[in-house]
Amino acid sequence: MRVQAKNVLIMSLRHTLVLLIGAFLGYYSSNILLVGVPRSAEQHAGTVEASWQAVALQTGTDKSGNPHVEPCFSNKLHCNNYSAMYEEFLTPYRSLPAKILEIGLGCDMIYGPGKSLDLWTRYFTNPLVEITFIELDAQCVQRFGEQIYKNGKKVSVVAGDQANVSLLAEVTRRYGPFDVVIDDGGHTFHQQRTCIEFFLNTGLKSSGLLFIEDLHTSFLWKPDVAGADRVNFAFRQLSDVLLSSGLPDKRYTPTDKTVLNVARFVRWFGCQRRACFIRKT
Ligand SMILES: *[C@@H]1O[C@H](CO)[C@@H](O)[C@H](O)[C@H]1NC(C)=O
Ligand SMILES: *[C@@H]1O[C@H](CO)[C@@H](O)[C@H](O)[C@H]1NC(C)=O
Repeated sequence: MRVQAKNVLIMSLRHTLVLLIGAFLGYYSSNILLVGVPRSAEQHAGTVEASWQAVALQTGTDKSGNPHVEPCFSNKLHCNNYSAMYEEFLTPYRSLPAKILEIGLGCDMIYGPGKSLDLWTRYFTNPLVEITFIELDAQCVQRFGEQIYKNGKKVSVVAGDQANVSLLAEVTRRYGPFDVVIDDGGHTFHQQRTCIEFFLNTGLKSSGLLFIEDLHTSFLWKPDVAGADRVNFAFRQLSDVLLSSGLPDKRYTPTDKTVLNVARFVRWFGCQRRACFIRKT
């Protein structure tokens, strides 16, 4: 007991001493700062870059809940708004010479192709960023150009079907493996599943990110002609796989083919309204 009381006393004395020294240094250094550094120097220390949301609104893509592009029928919840996921997860890549792939150039959009190409070439600031697009409409790709420069960045556009695994393999060989893949292509379940399986297995780098947009198609469309089932089921089962961590329970044994093929490559995944994102192991 006495030893403890003595220790407490020593500790509180030491604590007081540290506080006093700290207060003195704080006062002293804050004076030095005030005297020595002109106020404007702090303002020049770093320029603030426009947010993802701001850049997206400038370019007029339908990714940002832009009511001029996609009428929201009086309810904002019925708009795309992918700011939440892109703001949170793409910021660390912004100034890196990253390899980015988006599926879907927007050839079937009423406002014409290339809005998200404009977005990514503005948003990513490193001139060495490598941006690639895959687009189903070959004529549109020919008109648009297969190798273009926009906002000082080189962009490659490849014509082909995202459900064609040989095409994905060829694109990965030429331009990948990728740091970030965005699936904004045809949104059929077969296409979405092919992308999840291909990119988690091979097309993405380790710790790369896959974003799958417009997953509300799972609630709008019937299972594909190709026989693929709705993708929301894959994400439900994926959460069972991660949360159970392999504990045997027949009720939660995955049956979904996509989940069986990719679960071991999923470090984590999450969803926002209408979209999910996966970080590869
Ligand atoms: C989109 O989401 C962001 C936050 O993630 C919010 O700041 C913005 O107001 C939203 N825009 C619309 C049109 O809902
Ligand atoms: C799939 O992609 C490969 C490689 O680009 C191509 O040679 C082949 O014709 C494509 N298959 C179909 C069915 O489009």
